[in-house]
Amino acid sequence: MLRDPGPDLHALKLSRSLIVALDTPSLAEANALASRVADSADALKIGLELFVAEGGDAVRTLARVRPVFLDLKLHDIPETVDRAVARVAALGASLLTVHASGGPAMLERAAARAEKEATGLRIVAVTVLTSLDRADLDAMGVARSLEEQTLALAKMARAAGVSAFVCSPREVRALREVLGADALLITPGVRPAGENLGDQKRTDTPEGAIAAGADAVVVGRPIRDVADPRAAAERIKSSLS
Ligand code: C5P
Repeated sequence: MLRDPGPDLHALKLSRSLIVALDTPSLAEANALASRVADSADALKIGLELFVAEGGDAVRTLARVRPVFLDLKLHDIPETVDRAVARVAALGASLLTVHASGGPAMLERAAARAEKEATGLRIVAVTVLTSLDRADLDAMGVARSLEEQTLALAKMARAAGVSAFVCSPREVRALREVLGADALLITPGVRPAGENLGDQKRTDTPEGAIAAGADAVVVGRPIRDVADPRAAAERIKSSLS
C-alpha cells in the first residue's frame, strides 16, 4: 500500500474527502488499520495517543501511505509553537492542528513558520471542540453561543494567516458563509446514521457535513471499532460523493 511520495505529496487538496483517525496505541496497529483503509482514505490522522507512543516515526512511516494530518492541537506560547511547527514540517506531515484559542500571536507564528519551511505543511485551527456543548462553555466562562464562539475564533485565526479550520458539522454552514470558498473546513464528530455518538455531542452524518459545506470529514471509532474497517471506510467514502 506504499505510494511513491511525488513532489506534491504534502500539498494536500481536499474535497469531499475522508480523513481516517488512526487512534491506536502503537504504530503496528496504526499500520494495520492504515493498510485496510488506504484505498478510501484521502488522509490519515495521527492524534495524541499514537504520537505520544511512537513520535515522529509514526508520521514518517504513515506519510508514505497517505498524507498525514497530525492532530496535536498545539496551544502554547508563540515561540514554543513556532519551533514545534518547524519540527512537524521536517517530519513530512501535511496538516497540523493548533488551538485557535492560543491567540493571534501564536496563530501568526504557526502559519508563518509553516509557510517558511515550505514543505507543504498547512496549519489548521481548531475552533470549539466537538465534544463541548453549551453547559461546557458555561463552565468555562464563555458567554457567547457555540456558533458565535466558533465564528469569533475562526475569524481571529484567519486574520492571523490561517486558512484551514476544524469545526463541528453543526457550525460548518455558518463558517463557510463567513470564510468563503477558499477556506478548508474539516469536520470531526461525524457519525453514520444510527451509530453510537461516544463523547461527541455536536454531530451530523458524514454526508450531512459535506452537504453543509465541509471539505473533509474525520472519522475514527466508526471505522476503527468495527469488524470490517475496510468496508466501513468504503461505505463512508462513497457516501461523500
Ligand atoms: O472516534 P471519532 O470519530 O469521534 O474521532 C474523532 C477524531 O477527531 C478524534 O481523533 C478526535 O481527537 C478528533 N477531533 C475531534 N474534535 C475536534 C478535533 C479533533 O473529535 N474538534
